[in-house]
Amino acid sequence: MRKLTLALIVLLTLPALAQQQATPTPAQVAAAAQPSNDATWWKHAVVYEIYPRSFKDSNGDGVGDLNGITEKLDYLQNLGITAIWLAPMYPSPQVDFGYDISNYEAVDPQYGTLADFDRLLHEAEKHHIRIILDMVMNHTSDKHPWFEDSASSRTNPHADWYVWNDGKPDPTNGKAPNSHKGPNGWVVPPNDWSSLFQGSAWEWVEARQQFYYHFFYKQQPDLNYRNPAVEKAMFDAVKFWLDRGVAGFRLDAITTLYEDPSNRDEPLTGKLDASGFPESNHTLTSGLPDVHDFLQRLHRVVASYPGQRMLIGEIYTPNTAALRSWYGIAEKPELELPMDTLLGFHKEGNGITDAADPSLNTAHFRKYITEAEIELGDHTPLIVFDNHDNVRSWERFTTTGESYDEKAKIARIIASVLYTTRASSLTYYGGEIGMTTHTPTRREDVRDPIGITGWPKEKGRDGERTPMQWNDGPQAGFSTDPQTWLPVGDDYKTVNVAAEQADGSSLLRWNQTLIAIRAKNPTMHDGGIVMLDNENPAVLSYVRTAMSGGHAIVVSLNMTSKPQTVHLDLTLAGIKTTRVKTLLGDDASLNSVSDVSNFTLPPFTSLLAEVQ
Ligand code: GLC
Repeated sequence: MRKLTLALIVLLTLPALAQQQATPTPAQVAAAAQPSNDATWWKHAVVYEIYPRSFKDSNGDGVGDLNGITEKLDYLQNLGITAIWLAPMYPSPQVDFGYDISNYEAVDPQYGTLADFDRLLHEAEKHHIRIILDMVMNHTSDKHPWFEDSASSRTNPHADWYVWNDGKPDPTNGKAPNSHKGPNGWVVPPNDWSSLFQGSAWEWVEARQQFYYHFFYKQQPDLNYRNPAVEKAMFDAVKFWLDRGVAGFRLDAITTLYEDPSNRDEPLTGKLDASGFPESNHTLTSGLPDVHDFLQRLHRVVASYPGQRMLIGEIYTPNTAALRSWYGIAEKPELELPMDTLLGFHKEGNGITDAADPSLNTAHFRKYITEAEIELGDHTPLIVFDNHDNVRSWERFTTTGESYDEKAKIARIIASVLYTTRASSLTYYGGEIGMTTHTPTRREDVRDPIGITGWPKEKGRDGERTPMQWNDGPQAGFSTDPQTWLPVGDDYKTVNVAAEQADGSSLLRWNQTLIAIRAKNPTMHDGGIVMLDNENPAVLSYVRTAMSGGHAIVVSLNMTSKPQTVHLDLTLAGIKTTRVKTLLGDDASLNSVSDVSNFTLPPFTSLLAEVQ
């Protein structure tokens, strides 16, 4: 895992570290074992993240667009997804490729028009697919008219819309870094706060003779949520899209909305960022209690709309107890689905200890699945292994030196976990076909600014944003323009949708089958969950319990490169028999498994078997 993600995990979650881990009670375990037929759509969602630049270019300019997505709705419906999380498509100078918004109520012309968006929404509905927009509330672009106005003077109508500060006197009279001549002499930033995207979080503006604060790039100034006008403007933007019919929002970097008003220094981590600046630990700029109050107010707006609208949050937490806090409480709900990144982005322990990748570690999977299923109570976990900020999961989840074929099998194990636990699932375009991360090898090829300033320590996030590989034709069928905005992955001749649709044993077909079972099989859809064989270091097993009259389903995943013989005892789930019939197996030998008290899983394989 690259350093950025690790930094996000560490920096966005430190305040939550103090929270205690709850021990599951027998009542919680029993509750998780109960099937429930709650039909609320987002409790069973398969959310598919689309990075619009990279999915499908319909007008031949080398950049993906909204009409390209509309063209591919049949594909997405056949895959079985129920919602698209659309990464930002609003007007933007594209410094952070859309995460720097200059107008919250329009579409960037390079992606299309508002009419194209409405058509996408309408066509998606016909395909039973909802649209979830990415709402970037923490900051705007520095080219947003609000900021341009705000930065122009200290007295304009938007003067207090951003986080401005006079700075503190510079005793060196201009010799210190980031020192500027203000109205009362030389000043430096008010504190040591660092930007997550390298360097100081404070940037000087001559016209105001003040600094503004930016958690991310300096082109992404933080809004001042202590000003009620800012909240109102953002809620108006939310209503603009809800009125058009979007199903909800994925809230970007939501924990960073508020900063300590007294501007105290943050403790330093003792490390330098990739640009050489001392990192502060963000305990005063992330996860403040005000964020929870804000989310409760936002939730009321969203919930006032009919049709089960909902909120997903970009949340990285150090443990399940901290994750739980982002759902809010019954009387004061916050997020329907805070992202559960514990499984996908944390190594054994809490993952925030050092820059190591998570491994395909059975105990790690068991721990976080168990916690998500049991400790979140009635809340639905949203399991996430992949997004546009991280090396693709099947390349991260390795044990030791797997071959390409073994890694490809790991992709299947991850899919099995993603779609067979009692959770909602989030997947990232291209994951379903096993697209690989193509990190640039030369600085001059990098497009992501953190990769330019951080080179060679931080190479940026281009690698996981390469064009979708549709077929083995020119530009992998993504675009007719040979100059695609990022190069097409060099494995597109074999790793592409068309090839995998034609191959019954492909990863795409595996994903499609798992999603279909989950949607259509009542046990997979509604069943409770009981973990089995809890001490087994090599094989992860659980049973999804059935509604009366249905068949329970045993899931067993060999997470090692060696065959494993498994002996499961289903009495833990109140099931007296061990006789089963294979529903889906990842190897021909698994088709004949008839008894889970004794069976063998070949290396890196999954078995789904119906209890008879
Ligand atoms: C989130 C996004 C990331 C973006 C950042 C700033 O972490 O996932 O891509 O750069 O916020 O908006």
